[in-house]
Amino acid sequence: MRVSVIGCGYLGAVHAGAMAALGHDVVGVDVDEAKVAALSAGRAPFFEPGLPELLAQTTASGRLRFSTDLSEVAGCEVHFVCVGTPQRHHEFAADLTYVDAAFADLAAFLAPGDVVVGKSTVPVGTAERLAAGLEGTGAVLIWNPEFLREGFAVQDTLHPDRLVYGVPAGEAGERGRAVLDVVYAAPLADGVPLVVTDYATAQLVKVAANSFLATKISFINAMAELCEATGADVTALADAIGHDVRIGRKFLNAGLGFGGGCLPKDIRAFMARAGELGVDQALSFLREVDSINMRRRVRMVDLAREVCAGSIVGRRVAVLGAAFKPDSDDVRDSPALSVAAQMRLQGAHVTVTDPQAIPNAQRAWPDLVFADTAEAAAQGADVVILATEWREYRALDPEKLAQVVRSKAIVDGRNVLDPVAWRGAGWTYRALGRP
Ligand code: UGA
Repeated sequence: MRVSVIGCGYLGAVHAGAMAALGHDVVGVDVDEAKVAALSAGRAPFFEPGLPELLAQTTASGRLRFSTDLSEVAGCEVHFVCVGTPQRHHEFAADLTYVDAAFADLAAFLAPGDVVVGKSTVPVGTAERLAAGLEGTGAVLIWNPEFLREGFAVQDTLHPDRLVYGVPAGEAGERGRAVLDVVYAAPLADGVPLVVTDYATAQLVKVAANSFLATKISFINAMAELCEATGADVTALADAIGHDVRIGRKFLNAGLGFGGGCLPKDIRAFMARAGELGVDQALSFLREVDSINMRRRVRMVDLAREVCAGSIVGRRVAVLGAAFKPDSDDVRDSPALSVAAQMRLQGAHVTVTDPQAIPNAQRAWPDLVFADTAEAAAQGADVVILATEWREYRALDPEKLAQVVRSKAIVDGRNVLDPVAWRGAGWTYRALGRP
Protein backbone atom coordinates (compact mmCIF):
# COMPACT_ATOMS: atom_id res chain seq x y z
CA MET A 1 0.00 0.00 0.00
CA ARG A 2 1.03 3.63 -0.33
CA VAL A 3 1.60 4.83 3.20
CA SER A 4 2.57 8.16 4.77
CA VAL A 5 4.03 8.66 8.24
CA ILE A 6 3.69 12.14 9.70
CA GLY A 7 6.23 12.90 12.43
CA CYS A 8 9.56 11.04 12.31
CA GLY A 9 10.72 10.98 15.92
CA TYR A 10 11.39 7.89 18.05
CA LEU A 11 8.02 6.46 17.01
CA GLY A 12 7.55 7.68 13.43
CA ALA A 13 11.05 6.99 12.07
CA VAL A 14 10.89 3.39 13.25
CA HIS A 15 7.30 3.00 12.07
CA ALA A 16 8.17 4.33 8.59
CA GLY A 17 11.11 1.92 8.28
CA ALA A 18 9.02 -0.99 9.55
CA MET A 19 6.14 -0.26 7.13
CA ALA A 20 8.63 -0.23 4.23
CA ALA A 21 10.14 -3.50 5.51
CA LEU A 22 6.62 -4.99 5.44
CA GLY A 23 6.54 -4.19 1.72
CA HIS A 24 4.66 -0.89 1.57
CA ASP A 25 5.67 2.27 -0.32
CA VAL A 26 6.31 4.80 2.40
CA VAL A 27 6.91 8.53 2.63
CA GLY A 28 7.89 9.94 6.03
CA VAL A 29 7.30 13.64 6.66
CA ASP A 30 8.82 15.81 9.37
CA VAL A 31 9.33 19.56 9.80
CA ASP A 32 12.93 19.09 11.02
CA GLU A 33 15.19 19.48 7.97
CA ALA A 34 18.28 17.97 9.60
CA LYS A 35 16.29 14.90 10.64
CA VAL A 36 14.81 14.47 7.15
CA ALA A 37 18.28 14.86 5.57
CA ALA A 38 19.71 12.14 7.83
CA LEU A 39 16.77 9.80 7.28
CA SER A 40 16.85 10.37 3.51
CA ALA A 41 20.49 9.30 3.51
CA GLY A 42 19.43 6.12 5.30
CA ARG A 43 20.91 7.29 8.63
CA ALA A 44 19.13 7.13 12.00
CA PRO A 45 18.89 10.57 13.65
CA PHE A 46 18.99 8.95 17.13
CA PHE A 47 20.41 5.80 18.67
CA GLU A 48 18.13 2.79 18.34
CA PRO A 49 19.50 -0.74 17.86
CA GLY A 50 18.62 -2.16 14.43
CA LEU A 51 17.28 1.13 13.06
CA PRO A 52 20.34 2.05 10.92
CA GLU A 53 20.18 -1.34 9.20
CA LEU A 54 16.40 -1.07 8.70
CA LEU A 55 16.68 2.45 7.21
CA ALA A 56 19.66 1.63 5.01
CA GLN A 57 17.91 -1.41 3.59
CA THR A 58 14.50 0.21 3.01
CA THR A 59 15.76 3.54 1.62
CA ALA A 60 18.08 1.65 -0.76
CA SER A 61 15.16 -0.51 -1.92
CA GLY A 62 13.35 2.68 -3.01
CA ARG A 63 10.32 1.84 -0.84
CA LEU A 64 11.08 4.51 1.77
CA ARG A 65 11.70 8.21 1.34
CA PHE A 66 11.45 11.27 3.55
CA SER A 67 10.42 14.87 2.98
CA THR A 68 9.70 18.11 4.80
CA ASP A 69 6.89 18.80 2.33
CA LEU A 70 3.53 17.54 3.59
CA SER A 71 2.01 17.70 0.08
CA GLU A 72 4.05 14.55 -0.68
CA VAL A 73 1.47 12.54 1.27
CA ALA A 74 -1.13 13.18 -1.43
CA GLY A 75 -1.87 9.91 -3.19
CA CYS A 76 -1.12 7.77 -0.13
CA GLU A 77 -4.01 5.55 0.96
CA VAL A 78 -3.01 5.32 4.62
CA HIS A 79 -1.62 8.14 6.79
CA PHE A 80 -0.06 7.37 10.18
CA VAL A 81 0.09 10.35 12.56
CA CYS A 82 3.08 9.83 14.89
CA VAL A 83 3.79 13.31 16.28
CA GLY A 84 4.67 13.92 19.94
CA THR A 85 2.35 14.83 22.80
CA PRO A 86 4.70 16.23 25.48
CA GLN A 87 3.63 17.46 28.91
CA ARG A 88 2.37 21.05 28.83
CA HIS A 89 4.42 23.71 30.60
CA HIS A 90 3.17 24.31 34.17
CA GLU A 91 0.49 21.61 33.82
CA PHE A 92 0.05 17.84 34.00
CA ALA A 93 -2.04 17.74 30.80
CA ALA A 94 -0.70 16.70 27.39
CA ASP A 95 0.18 19.35 24.82
CA LEU A 96 -1.87 18.50 21.72
CA THR A 97 -0.51 21.34 19.57
CA TYR A 98 1.44 19.00 17.25
CA VAL A 99 -1.40 16.50 16.86
CA ASP A 100 -3.93 19.21 16.13
CA ALA A 101 -1.61 20.87 13.59
CA ALA A 102 -0.83 17.56 11.88
CA PHE A 103 -4.52 16.73 11.43
CA ALA A 104 -5.41 20.26 10.29
CA ASP A 105 -2.59 20.32 7.71
CA LEU A 106 -3.20 16.74 6.54
CA ALA A 107 -6.89 17.39 5.75
CA ALA A 108 -5.95 19.40 2.64
CA PHE A 109 -4.26 16.36 1.06
CA LEU A 110 -6.80 13.66 1.86
CA ALA A 111 -8.91 11.90 -0.77
CA PRO A 112 -12.20 10.07 -0.18
CA GLY A 113 -11.50 6.53 1.05
CA ASP A 114 -8.18 7.42 2.68
CA VAL A 115 -7.50 5.96 6.10
CA VAL A 116 -5.94 8.21 8.75
CA VAL A 117 -4.36 6.27 11.60
CA GLY A 118 -3.71 7.97 14.95
CA LYS A 119 -0.70 6.55 16.81
CA SER A 120 0.25 9.44 19.11
CA THR A 121 -0.59 8.98 22.81
CA VAL A 122 -3.57 11.25 23.46
CA PRO A 123 -6.09 11.97 26.22
CA VAL A 124 -9.26 9.93 25.79
CA GLY A 125 -11.77 11.93 23.75
CA THR A 126 -9.18 13.33 21.35
CA ALA A 127 -9.83 10.79 18.57
CA GLU A 128 -13.55 11.59 18.58
CA ARG A 129 -12.75 15.30 18.18
CA LEU A 130 -10.17 14.69 15.44
CA ALA A 131 -12.57 12.40 13.55
CA ALA A 132 -15.16 15.18 13.56
CA GLY A 133 -12.52 17.48 12.08
CA LEU A 134 -12.01 15.08 9.16
CA GLU A 135 -15.69 15.21 8.19
CA GLY A 136 -16.08 16.34 4.61
CA THR A 137 -12.75 14.83 3.49
CA GLY A 138 -14.20 11.34 2.93
CA ALA A 139 -11.35 9.87 5.00
CA VAL A 140 -11.91 7.62 8.02
CA LEU A 141 -9.94 7.73 11.28
CA ILE A 142 -8.74 4.57 13.05
CA TRP A 143 -7.03 4.87 16.48
CA ASN A 144 -4.10 2.46 16.63
CA PRO A 145 -1.96 3.04 19.74
CA GLU A 146 1.71 2.09 19.75
CA PHE A 147 3.39 0.02 22.46
CA LEU A 148 7.01 -0.02 21.30
CA ARG A 149 9.81 0.27 23.84
CA GLU A 150 12.86 2.37 23.06
CA GLY A 151 15.84 0.08 22.68
CA PHE A 152 13.58 -2.63 21.19
CA ALA A 153 11.61 -0.37 18.85
CA VAL A 154 12.34 -2.17 15.58
CA GLN A 155 11.50 -5.60 16.94
CA ASP A 156 8.41 -4.29 18.79
CA THR A 157 7.11 -2.64 15.59
CA LEU A 158 7.71 -5.59 13.29
CA HIS A 159 6.59 -8.17 15.87
CA PRO A 160 4.20 -6.39 18.26
CA ASP A 161 2.70 -8.34 21.16
CA ARG A 162 -0.74 -7.04 20.18
CA LEU A 163 -2.48 -4.67 17.75
CA VAL A 164 -5.35 -2.46 18.84
CA TYR A 165 -7.74 -0.69 16.46
CA GLY A 166 -10.20 1.91 17.69
CA VAL A 167 -12.80 1.92 14.92
CA PRO A 168 -15.93 4.07 14.44
CA ALA A 169 -19.24 2.25 13.99
CA GLY A 170 -20.57 1.84 10.46
CA GLU A 171 -19.45 1.06 6.96
CA ALA A 172 -16.55 3.56 6.85
CA GLY A 173 -15.09 2.03 10.01
CA GLU A 174 -15.35 -1.48 8.53
CA ARG A 175 -13.59 -0.31 5.38
CA GLY A 176 -10.84 1.40 7.41
CA ARG A 177 -10.35 -1.72 9.46
CA ALA A 178 -10.00 -3.85 6.31
CA VAL A 179 -7.35 -1.47 4.96
CA LEU A 180 -5.38 -1.64 8.22
CA ASP A 181 -5.59 -5.45 8.08
CA VAL A 182 -3.78 -5.23 4.72
CA VAL A 183 -1.16 -2.85 6.16
CA TYR A 184 -0.49 -5.27 9.04
CA ALA A 185 -1.01 -8.46 6.99
CA ALA A 186 2.41 -9.88 7.94
CA PRO A 187 2.15 -9.57 11.75
CA LEU A 188 -1.51 -10.67 11.64
CA ALA A 189 -0.50 -13.75 9.63
CA ASP A 190 2.09 -14.45 12.35
CA GLY A 191 -0.75 -14.68 14.85
CA VAL A 192 -0.31 -11.31 16.60
CA PRO A 193 -3.49 -10.81 18.69
CA LEU A 194 -5.81 -8.09 17.39
CA VAL A 195 -8.27 -6.20 19.58
CA VAL A 196 -10.86 -4.24 17.62
CA THR A 197 -12.77 -1.77 19.74
CA ASP A 198 -14.14 1.78 19.88
CA TYR A 199 -12.14 5.01 19.94
CA ALA A 200 -12.44 5.58 23.69
CA THR A 201 -11.21 2.11 24.62
CA ALA A 202 -8.31 2.22 22.17
CA GLN A 203 -7.09 5.53 23.58
CA LEU A 204 -7.49 4.26 27.15
CA VAL A 205 -5.64 1.00 26.43
CA LYS A 206 -2.46 2.93 25.78
CA VAL A 207 -2.46 5.04 28.95
CA ALA A 208 -3.79 2.16 31.04
CA ALA A 209 -0.85 0.00 29.90
CA ASN A 210 1.73 2.67 30.72
CA SER A 211 0.03 3.41 34.06
CA PHE A 212 0.14 -0.27 34.97
CA LEU A 213 3.85 -0.49 34.13
CA ALA A 214 4.59 2.67 36.13
CA THR A 215 2.58 1.29 39.05
CA LYS A 216 4.49 -1.98 38.97
CA ILE A 217 7.82 -0.13 39.12
CA SER A 218 6.67 2.16 41.92
CA PHE A 219 5.22 -0.78 43.83
CA ILE A 220 8.61 -2.49 43.96
CA ASN A 221 10.31 0.81 44.76
CA ALA A 222 7.90 1.29 47.68
CA MET A 223 8.94 -2.19 48.82
CA ALA A 224 12.54 -1.00 48.49
CA GLU A 225 11.76 1.75 51.02
CA LEU A 226 10.46 -0.92 53.40
CA CYS A 227 13.55 -3.01 52.76
CA GLU A 228 15.77 -0.05 53.56
CA ALA A 229 13.94 0.42 56.86
CA THR A 230 14.22 -3.26 57.82
CA GLY A 231 17.48 -4.52 56.35
CA ALA A 232 15.67 -6.70 53.82
CA ASP A 233 16.75 -7.21 50.19
CA VAL A 234 14.33 -5.95 47.52
CA THR A 235 15.96 -7.98 44.72
CA ALA A 236 15.32 -11.27 46.55
CA LEU A 237 11.82 -10.05 47.40
CA ALA A 238 11.15 -9.29 43.71
CA ASP A 239 12.47 -12.72 42.67
CA ALA A 240 10.28 -14.42 45.24
CA ILE A 241 7.01 -12.62 44.44
CA GLY A 242 7.83 -12.71 40.73
CA HIS A 243 7.66 -16.52 40.73
CA ASP A 244 3.92 -16.14 41.18
CA VAL A 245 2.79 -16.03 37.54
CA ARG A 246 -0.08 -13.74 38.51
CA ILE A 247 2.53 -11.18 39.57
CA GLY A 248 5.43 -11.91 37.17
CA ARG A 249 9.06 -10.80 37.57
CA LYS A 250 9.11 -8.30 34.66
CA PHE A 251 9.09 -4.57 35.55
CA LEU A 252 9.87 -5.40 39.18
CA ASN A 253 13.43 -4.07 39.02
CA ALA A 254 13.79 -1.71 41.95
CA GLY A 255 16.18 1.19 41.71
CA LEU A 256 16.21 4.75 40.44
CA GLY A 257 12.75 4.37 38.94
CA PHE A 258 11.17 5.27 35.65
CA GLY A 259 11.88 8.19 33.35
CA GLY A 260 11.79 8.88 29.64
CA GLY A 261 9.43 10.62 27.27
CA CYS A 262 6.45 8.34 28.01
CA LEU A 263 5.72 6.89 31.46
CA PRO A 264 6.11 10.09 33.55
CA LYS A 265 4.16 12.39 31.24
CA ASP A 266 1.55 9.76 30.37
CA ILE A 267 0.52 9.10 33.98
CA ARG A 268 0.30 12.86 34.59
CA ALA A 269 -1.76 13.50 31.47
CA PHE A 270 -4.02 10.59 32.47
CA MET A 271 -4.61 12.15 35.90
CA ALA A 272 -5.34 15.51 34.28
CA ARG A 273 -7.85 13.94 31.91
CA ALA A 274 -9.54 12.00 34.72
CA GLY A 275 -9.98 15.32 36.53
CA GLU A 276 -11.65 16.84 33.48
CA LEU A 277 -13.96 13.83 33.30
CA GLY A 278 -14.90 14.18 36.97
CA VAL A 279 -13.32 10.86 37.99
CA ASP A 280 -10.05 12.12 39.44
CA GLN A 281 -10.44 9.82 42.47
CA ALA A 282 -10.10 6.80 40.19
CA LEU A 283 -6.53 7.78 39.41
CA SER A 284 -5.44 9.44 42.65
CA PHE A 285 -3.16 6.42 43.24
CA LEU A 286 -1.08 7.55 40.25
CA ARG A 287 -0.10 10.65 42.21
CA GLU A 288 1.49 8.30 44.76
CA VAL A 289 3.09 6.27 41.95
CA ASP A 290 4.66 9.51 40.70
CA SER A 291 5.81 10.56 44.20
CA ILE A 292 7.40 7.19 45.02
CA ASN A 293 9.22 7.39 41.71
CA MET A 294 10.58 10.90 42.28
CA ARG A 295 11.61 10.07 45.88
CA ARG A 296 14.04 7.42 44.57
CA ARG A 297 16.11 10.12 42.91
CA VAL A 298 16.41 12.03 46.17
CA ARG A 299 17.23 8.83 48.10
CA MET A 300 20.01 8.10 45.61
CA VAL A 301 21.66 11.44 46.38
CA ASP A 302 21.23 10.79 50.12
CA LEU A 303 22.92 7.39 49.77
CA ALA A 304 25.86 8.97 47.97
CA ARG A 305 26.07 11.56 50.75
CA GLU A 306 26.13 8.81 53.39
CA VAL A 307 28.94 7.09 51.52
CA CYS A 308 30.84 10.41 51.46
CA ALA A 309 30.68 10.70 55.25
CA GLY A 310 27.82 13.17 55.34
CA SER A 311 28.73 15.74 52.69
CA ILE A 312 29.12 15.78 48.92
CA VAL A 313 30.36 19.38 48.79
CA GLY A 314 33.60 19.42 46.83
CA ARG A 315 33.52 15.64 46.40
CA ARG A 316 34.20 14.05 43.03
CA VAL A 317 31.28 12.00 41.77
CA ALA A 318 31.26 9.76 38.68
CA VAL A 319 27.79 9.12 37.27
CA LEU A 320 27.65 6.11 34.93
CA GLY A 321 24.73 6.65 32.55
CA ALA A 322 22.84 9.65 31.23
CA ALA A 323 20.14 7.99 29.11
CA PHE A 324 16.82 7.19 30.81
CA LYS A 325 17.42 3.50 30.06
CA PRO A 326 20.11 1.40 28.37
CA ASP A 327 20.23 1.02 24.57
CA SER A 328 18.81 4.50 24.08
CA ASP A 329 20.28 8.00 23.73
CA ASP A 330 17.06 9.56 25.02
CA VAL A 331 17.60 11.78 28.07
CA ARG A 332 14.05 13.07 28.47
CA ASP A 333 13.24 13.04 32.19
CA SER A 334 16.25 10.80 32.77
CA PRO A 335 16.62 9.66 36.40
CA ALA A 336 20.39 9.43 35.84
CA LEU A 337 20.70 13.06 34.76
CA SER A 338 18.34 14.15 37.51
CA VAL A 339 20.70 12.61 40.09
CA ALA A 340 23.77 14.08 38.39
CA ALA A 341 22.23 17.55 38.27
CA GLN A 342 21.03 17.44 41.89
CA MET A 343 24.51 16.49 43.08
CA ARG A 344 26.11 19.20 40.96
CA LEU A 345 23.68 21.78 42.38
CA GLN A 346 24.55 20.58 45.90
CA GLY A 347 28.23 21.31 45.38
CA ALA A 348 29.72 18.05 44.12
CA HIS A 349 32.12 17.87 41.17
CA VAL A 350 30.16 15.60 38.89
CA THR A 351 31.42 13.82 35.76
CA VAL A 352 28.85 11.95 33.70
CA THR A 353 29.49 9.29 31.11
CA ASP A 354 27.25 7.34 28.75
CA PRO A 355 27.96 5.16 25.71
CA GLN A 356 25.43 7.00 23.49
CA ALA A 357 23.66 9.87 25.22
CA ILE A 358 26.44 12.40 25.89
CA PRO A 359 25.48 14.81 23.06
CA ASN A 360 21.83 14.89 24.17
CA ALA A 361 22.82 15.15 27.83
CA GLN A 362 25.20 18.01 27.07
CA ARG A 363 22.41 19.93 25.35
CA ALA A 364 20.08 19.37 28.32
CA TRP A 365 22.66 20.11 31.07
CA PRO A 366 25.52 22.13 29.51
CA ASP A 367 27.11 22.84 32.89
CA LEU A 368 27.72 19.16 33.72
CA VAL A 369 31.13 17.70 32.89
CA PHE A 370 31.22 14.69 30.57
CA ALA A 371 33.77 11.93 29.92
CA ASP A 372 33.83 9.29 27.22
CA THR A 373 34.36 6.18 29.32
CA ALA A 374 33.55 4.88 32.79
CA GLU A 375 37.27 4.80 33.64
CA ALA A 376 37.73 8.43 32.57
CA ALA A 377 34.65 9.56 34.52
CA ALA A 378 35.83 7.69 37.63
CA GLN A 379 39.33 9.25 37.70
CA GLY A 380 39.90 10.42 41.28
CA ALA A 381 36.25 9.80 42.21
CA ASP A 382 35.12 9.76 45.84
CA VAL A 383 32.02 7.84 44.81
CA VAL A 384 30.84 6.10 41.63
CA ILE A 385 27.12 6.00 40.87
CA LEU A 386 25.65 3.45 38.49
CA ALA A 387 22.55 5.24 37.20
CA THR A 388 21.73 3.53 33.87
CA GLU A 389 22.35 -0.19 33.52
CA TRP A 390 24.20 -0.31 30.19
CA ARG A 391 25.73 -3.76 29.55
CA GLU A 392 29.27 -2.38 29.77
CA TYR A 393 28.62 -0.92 33.24
CA ARG A 394 27.11 -4.18 34.48
CA ALA A 395 30.30 -5.90 33.30
CA LEU A 396 32.70 -3.44 35.00
CA ASP A 397 35.66 -5.08 36.72
CA PRO A 398 35.85 -3.85 40.35
CA GLU A 399 39.62 -4.54 40.51
CA LYS A 400 40.27 -2.44 37.38
CA LEU A 401 38.03 0.45 38.39
CA ALA A 402 39.68 0.49 41.82
CA GLN A 403 42.90 1.63 40.16
CA VAL A 404 41.49 4.99 39.03
CA VAL A 405 39.20 6.10 41.87
CA ARG A 406 40.27 7.97 45.00
CA SER A 407 37.85 6.09 47.22
CA LYS A 408 36.43 2.64 46.48
CA ALA A 409 32.75 3.45 46.95
CA ILE A 410 29.94 2.58 44.57
CA VAL A 411 26.19 3.19 44.72
CA ASP A 412 24.27 0.81 42.45
CA GLY A 413 21.16 2.70 41.38
CA ARG A 414 19.82 -0.21 39.30
CA ASN A 415 20.63 -3.24 41.47
CA VAL A 416 22.60 -4.89 38.70
CA LEU A 417 26.06 -5.36 40.23
CA ASP A 418 27.14 -8.33 42.32
CA PRO A 419 27.62 -7.01 45.86
CA VAL A 420 29.82 -9.98 46.79
CA ALA A 421 32.26 -9.34 43.94
CA TRP A 422 32.47 -5.59 44.64
CA ARG A 423 32.81 -5.95 48.40
CA GLY A 424 35.32 -8.75 47.83
CA ALA A 425 37.44 -6.29 45.85
CA GLY A 426 37.43 -3.90 48.80
CA TRP A 427 34.63 -1.60 47.68
CA THR A 428 31.96 -0.04 49.85
CA TYR A 429 28.86 -1.21 47.94
CA ARG A 430 25.50 0.47 48.56
CA ALA A 431 22.25 0.03 46.64
CA LEU A 432 18.64 1.14 46.78
CA GLY A 433 16.56 -1.36 48.72
CA ARG A 434 19.42 -3.67 49.69
CA PRO A 435 21.32 -4.03 52.94
C1 UGA B 1 7.30 2.60 27.65
C2 UGA B 1 6.46 1.33 27.57
O1 UGA B 1 7.17 0.23 28.13
C3 UGA B 1 6.09 1.02 26.11
O2 UGA B 1 5.25 -0.12 26.04
C4 UGA B 1 5.37 2.24 25.52
O3 UGA B 1 5.05 2.04 24.15
C5 UGA B 1 6.29 3.45 25.64
O4 UGA B 1 6.61 3.69 27.02
C6 UGA B 1 5.55 4.63 25.06
O5 UGA B 1 4.55 5.04 25.64
O6 UGA B 1 5.93 5.09 23.97
P1 UGA B 1 9.91 3.13 27.22
O7 UGA B 1 9.60 4.49 27.75
O8 UGA B 1 10.69 2.98 25.97
O9 UGA B 1 8.53 2.33 26.96
O10 UGA B 1 10.71 2.34 28.33
P2 UGA B 1 10.43 1.22 29.43
O11 UGA B 1 11.16 0.00 29.05
O12 UGA B 1 8.99 1.08 29.74
O13 UGA B 1 11.17 1.85 30.69
C7 UGA B 1 10.68 3.06 31.28
C8 UGA B 1 11.48 3.42 32.50
O14 UGA B 1 11.22 2.50 33.56
C9 UGA B 1 12.99 3.42 32.32
O15 UGA B 1 13.53 4.58 32.92
C10 UGA B 1 13.44 2.17 33.04
O16 UGA B 1 14.74 2.28 33.54
C11 UGA B 1 12.41 2.07 34.15
N1 UGA B 1 12.22 0.70 34.68
C12 UGA B 1 11.74 -0.29 33.88
C13 UGA B 1 12.48 0.44 36.03
O17 UGA B 1 12.90 1.33 36.78
N2 UGA B 1 12.27 -0.83 36.51
C14 UGA B 1 11.80 -1.83 35.72
O18 UGA B 1 11.64 -2.95 36.23
C15 UGA B 1 11.53 -1.55 34.38
